[in-house]
Amino acid sequence: MPLVVTHRVAAAAALKGPLVILPVAQGPLADSLAAFDQACGGALARCLASGDFTGAKDDTALVYPDPGGPERVLLVGMGEAEQVTAAALRRAAMIGGKKARTLGAPTASLLFTSSAAPKVAAGRAGQALAEGVPFGAWHYPDLKRPPESPKPDFTQCELITADASADFAAGLTRGNAVAAGQTLTRGLQVLPGNTCTPEYLGERARELAERHGFTITVMDKAAITKAGMHALLAVAKGSAVEPRFIILEHRGSKAAPVVLVGKGVTFDTGGISIKPPQNMEDMKYDMSGAAAVLGAFETIGLLKPTQHVIGLIPSCENMPSSTAYRPGDVVSSHLGKTIEVVNTDAEGRLLLGDALSWARQYSPAAVIDCATLTGAIVIALGHTASGLMGTDRALLDAVREAGEAADERVWELPLWDDYRELIKSEIADMKNSGGRAAGSITAGWFLREFAEGYPWAHVDIAGTAYTDRESPTQVKGPTGVMVRLFTEYLLARA
Ligand code: BES
Ligand code: MN
Ligand code: ZN
Repeated sequence: MPLVVTHRVAAAAALKGPLVILPVAQGPLADSLAAFDQACGGALARCLASGDFTGAKDDTALVYPDPGGPERVLLVGMGEAEQVTAAALRRAAMIGGKKARTLGAPTASLLFTSSAAPKVAAGRAGQALAEGVPFGAWHYPDLKRPPESPKPDFTQCELITADASADFAAGLTRGNAVAAGQTLTRGLQVLPGNTCTPEYLGERARELAERHGFTITVMDKAAITKAGMHALLAVAKGSAVEPRFIILEHRGSKAAPVVLVGKGVTFDTGGISIKPPQNMEDMKYDMSGAAAVLGAFETIGLLKPTQHVIGLIPSCENMPSSTAYRPGDVVSSHLGKTIEVVNTDAEGRLLLGDALSWARQYSPAAVIDCATLTGAIVIALGHTASGLMGTDRALLDAVREAGEAADERVWELPLWDDYRELIKSEIADMKNSGGRAAGSITAGWFLREFAEGYPWAHVDIAGTAYTDRESPTQVKGPTGVMVRLFTEYLLARA
């Protein structure tokens, strides 16, 4: 059952139930929490007095109040009050949501006091909290047989404030929509490659479109062939599963559209240039860009922004077989440019090149693609930020600012002309790989060759789409990255 987050105005002292999540700033207990602490029999003050919990960032303490109050209170530290941002609130909510689920609390209250975040506007606070709790609580679909359900599901979380606030409530609505998008994205990301095929992505996109009233086209192999997407077809050739090209449209205004493009490689073996077996299973995440676009459309469908947005998802599987494309092959593309394939593992750019070329017919105001495109971006930026490249200063700045605001950070790499040399081919218009040096930038340059005629930005999410370890805020696995950034970008534009 999905987690439902609601808002209620209530006196903290009256809170009961299995769990109260209480994000606090560093230092002594705020005056506004005195009555709540009294209802807890002074348990909070005792916890702070012990020194076990200081309220430093990520500090947590689970407190068991006297009978009559809530069963448990989870204190979550956010550091110095003056420094507490919306991101810090979101993070505290994530930590709370994760703990609520692992404790087996069926319901929880999150007590928000503005003294814990004096610098955060109410709307931002409501949004961040509503995004954070379901994010932290997210877990794997139960594919174990029989299903493993030792603890009750965490299904209800109330955000509690002392006063009514229309801004906070509006923030909650936005946050719920973003959370739904992130949940959809992560649910798709986590699916194994044998379930989440291009055809499956097409079906899920169709279901999404029907639910929200989007226009949808799902092109099959015949339609993709007719459209002349030769680069996508070259990658798809090696697999028994058919490719798809998905087009979603939300017409919230008559203006030129923003086009969101997501790489949808449902499994990337590397093809004939096959990858080493170590961690190859993670290549089920190679459709994370596609999943992010679908999640963003879930959020768009719920918020119905006054924006014209088009989603494009080129999707296929990259397999080695007797029908696979080979190193040395020269393939054409939707734009007509020719590509010498020197490495069949540099497949994502072939799909995206065709999608970027397809986007031109919409005369877009902006095109943003996101893709688990290069291992090199993990070397450059680790798992902390996504890589950003593009052709338009204003768009790049807007994407970077959206990333800051959403706490999905991006960092720009240069697309200087010098780097174009690295993908020069003797036999075709370009090579699909420039080798190891500047691997993320040469991939960006390849895309640039197909992003003609509109402002374009590219976000490389290979290091941010999934995590290989558990953290205080989430289980190991998919992050749903880009849903918050895309939403922030679109809402800032509206
Ligand atoms: N899907 C991979 C990139 C990737 C790597 C995503 C690690 C997530 C984690 C992409 O298709 C790829 O294989 N890129 C190659 C390009 C190279 C052959 C030029 C890479 O990064 O090694
Ligand atoms: Mn690859
Ligand atoms: Zn790939």
